[in-house]
Amino acid sequence: MRHLLSITDLTVEELDELLYSAADIEENPDAYAHRMEGKKLATLFFEPSTRTRLSFEAAMYELGGQVLGFAGASSSSASKGESVKDTGRTVSCYADIIAMRHPLEGAPWAAVQSARVPVINAGDGGHDHPTQTLADLMTLKREKGRLDHLKIGLCGDLKFGRTVHSLLEALSRYPGNEFILISPAELRVPAGVMNALKESGAAFREAESLENEIGSLDALYMTRIQQERFFSVEEYLRLNDSYILDEEKMRLAPRDMIVMHPLPRVNEIDVKVDEDPRACYFKQVMYGKIMRKALILKLLSEAGTPDRPGHVMITTGRRCKNPRCITTTEQGLEPLFFPVHQVMMQGVLTRVPTKYFCAYCEMESI
Ligand code: CP
Repeated sequence: MRHLLSITDLTVEELDELLYSAADIEENPDAYAHRMEGKKLATLFFEPSTRTRLSFEAAMYELGGQVLGFAGASSSSASKGESVKDTGRTVSCYADIIAMRHPLEGAPWAAVQSARVPVINAGDGGHDHPTQTLADLMTLKREKGRLDHLKIGLCGDLKFGRTVHSLLEALSRYPGNEFILISPAELRVPAGVMNALKESGAAFREAESLENEIGSLDALYMTRIQQERFFSVEEYLRLNDSYILDEEKMRLAPRDMIVMHPLPRVNEIDVKVDEDPRACYFKQVMYGKIMRKALILKLLSEAGTPDRPGHVMITTGRRCKNPRCITTTEQGLEPLFFPVHQVMMQGVLTRVPTKYFCAYCEMESI
């Protein structure tokens, strides 16, 4: 059975196939209008969503399928203490495929332990959001004409911004891309994503000033400061207004730079920027629905490959220390880790004492 937990569950060739399939779906919607007849999608959203849930639902209806699910933990038996694993097993009795969003990191991976149908990660805490990346890739392909040799600025909350993590993991596998990671020191890209970036050999650097960087970018990917992930209100309020993209900053940007944002936005893009032809974030929304159609078709029409190819998972006797990891609350979930023996440092593959990364949330275990 094939799941989509991380964007790295798809090879570059498969990403390209999905883009090709999405283009065909867009051009020939009638040819796909009955492809999922008799199939049901369950949307299990333990955390709020507008775009992801509704685009999954619209995608399934437009493919001729049906939808069931819930839009909040309070209306499911999670509110009575039911585990994610039991929910996955139960919903497998009703649906052919599951799209799950959860505030805890690695939760869809827990569902996979018991689900009998494909599970799609529709966003897990501050960890990953692979189907947003599918929308982002289609946006770049359409608006810039390519997914390689791009200089991309990612700006805002790079620590908790799960869309950023998945997008970096996808784009660092295409040749020639360069990433400018623009954030306050407190909200830098976390260690696990940084390691993956180093291992990929992609060019990147960290920066703090949007004004200094915007003039040389092909694409600017703005993100919201993720209020719901902060443990301290004071810390959130201190960082909330770190970056605001307005008409003045847009005047510093190249004429062909595109502005992307996974949405929802709070105040980090001034609404006046919406009228700028370089603003692509509402196009991203439409591309997201089309890519989710392509993904549903793929997962329900092909045999699977093992999850996370290339990774060996082991038990170490330790537990994940990430307070946001699903293993902190879920009963009967075996702690599993990926051992990592070498990382890329300044362009050199360097052997390091073995590090362990949680197989659910991918946070380094110390
Ligand atoms: N981009 C995104 O995930 O939006 P929602 O939270 O509205 O689903």
